[in-house]
Amino acid sequence: MKLAHLILLLLDLHLSSSGHTPASGLPQEDLVEQKCLLQKYTHLSCDKVFCQPWQKCIDGTCVCKLPYQCPKNGTPVCATDGRNYPTYCHQKSFECLHPEIKFSNNGTCTDQGKFNVSLIYGSTDTEGIVQVKLVDQNEKMFICKNSWSVAEANVACFDLGFPLGVRDTQARFNIPVNLHINTTECLHVRCRGIETTLAECTFTRRRTKTPHGLAGVVCYTQDADFPTSQSFQCVNGKRIPQEKACNGINDCGDQSDELCCTGCRGKAFICKSGVCIPNQYRCNGEVDCITGEDESNCKEDRQHNIHEGVARPDQGGETEMETEETEMLTPGMDTERKRIKSLLPKLSCGVKRNTHTRRKRVVGGQPAEVGDYPWQVAIKDGQRITCGGIYIGGCWILTAAHCVRRSKLHHYQIWTALLDWLKPNSELAIQAVNRIIIHENYNGATYQNDIALIEMKKRPGKKECELSRSVPACVPWSPYLFQPNDTCIISGWGREKDNQRVYSLRWGEVNLIGNCSQFYPGRYYEKEMQCAGTSDGSIDACKGDSGGPLVCNDINNVTYIWGIVSWGENCGKPEFPGVYTRVANYFDWISYHVGRSLVSQHNV
Ligand code: ARG
Repeated sequence: MKLAHLILLLLDLHLSSSGHTPASGLPQEDLVEQKCLLQKYTHLSCDKVFCQPWQKCIDGTCVCKLPYQCPKNGTPVCATDGRNYPTYCHQKSFECLHPEIKFSNNGTCTDQGKFNVSLIYGSTDTEGIVQVKLVDQNEKMFICKNSWSVAEANVACFDLGFPLGVRDTQARFNIPVNLHINTTECLHVRCRGIETTLAECTFTRRRTKTPHGLAGVVCYTQDADFPTSQSFQCVNGKRIPQEKACNGINDCGDQSDELCCTGCRGKAFICKSGVCIPNQYRCNGEVDCITGEDESNCKEDRQHNIHEGVARPDQGGETEMETEETEMLTPGMDTERKRIKSLLPKLSCGVKRNTHTRRKRVVGGQPAEVGDYPWQVAIKDGQRITCGGIYIGGCWILTAAHCVRRSKLHHYQIWTALLDWLKPNSELAIQAVNRIIIHENYNGATYQNDIALIEMKKRPGKKECELSRSVPACVPWSPYLFQPNDTCIISGWGREKDNQRVYSLRWGEVNLIGNCSQFYPGRYYEKEMQCAGTSDGSIDACKGDSGGPLVCNDINNVTYIWGIVSWGENCGKPEFPGVYTRVANYFDWISYHVGRSLVSQHNV
């Protein structure tokens, strides 16, 4: 007893003197963002993550698609109801609506028996050594310890009817000594962690010379609470040790421990949107961060992550040398999931046709060239251009509510592909207005909800609005796509600082500004508004720019309409940045009016 104490003490001393942070040391860096936690984000929050291909995003939540909305091609799969489904997507979509019916096997149903998971040698039915019976095998088999991590253990627990997933991936169980298990024959399993049954995971058998430990699990139940006071409260009600939050591993089972992070510990990667993902998801050919940076700047030598079977984050162990042969028993459905994802309809927006890159330094704005801002439109009221607007696809223009009046509908013209309204260029096209939708909560006194939609008239005999020179800007579906200090672009025909008239389209770079209440106490509404400007105020929108775009480019240079020029105290004063309508806050309002398919880039 005393000796053990001494050793621990020495170990502690050693760790602290060498400057390492002990895994369970006292001052744990808190990487969790508390304000974000109030939103109760989970794996179903499309503000933070992509939905599954059998789901779509409605009002910030991934909800079930109907099976008929699945891509048609694929091969049949069998479910636990004994029925065949045309594709994996059809089955998962059906399961999403009826969770008791799970995946059984790839291919049609046969009477070969059912997939089954069970626990054995535990002292309660919430724990034990994991046994599986694959569909085409007669005997139950064990799973090797070294292929077992939180992802697999969660799935096993989900499968066994424990919706909160795993509590411990390892524990001591009383395997009878007289039992002779051939532990060189255990199965290896790999899951993504989002499956609802182990049957969806990849099973392989590797015959090795050295015997393996067997995988065991303790599933989480409310009464098996962690005793520690330092625990993280998951959205699903589970408690996990605080230091497991923001480590890239889905310890909660609903991912809520990885969605509000200011940084990540261990072998995890932080997305700009504040989400921690396992390092091995970086450059694996599938976008995980909603902002896309996990798949950008992938050097050739990192591309190896696209192959299955890279080193796992939470276990060392097994080297390829030990393996004598690997036999694939079930292929797993992860590749099929990715294939289905690639078949979903894709929206084309935010990508310019011509891509001459000419980026000089901007002071007070630069004149634009044809094709530079193909989403920019001008709103002409009688003889004058009074406001800007943004083309978002179909016949739809986004603008500020304070720019338009429904009663003046017939006075308005939408000028697209315009550069200089004194010397109209040949690309210019003029559209009449069919309908104006002003936000129902627009407040002309406070400029809250300063957003409106204009539907252009179609040409006689035409089914669509044909704007050959225009390109829609993408509508941001999540408030986490861009952050303070990101550099974005404003453009318009508005006045110069000295109130001088401007006839040609000008643009300039501005930075998104956080904590804007400090500049406009009592007048700035964080959720609905976004400030942007430069530290010296040299670039700003001004009178006449209203309704026009504040656009930001993502890591792949896709352009999003992040803000609509709304208001500001004076123009170009550093102490008074420009205020823009925060478009991401109105994604549902916009998609409700223009139709989901027109603006839903992901999560359709
Ligand atoms: N409300 C103005 C307009 O009608 C836009 C003002 C923007 N001002 C600013 N400093 N950013 O055009």
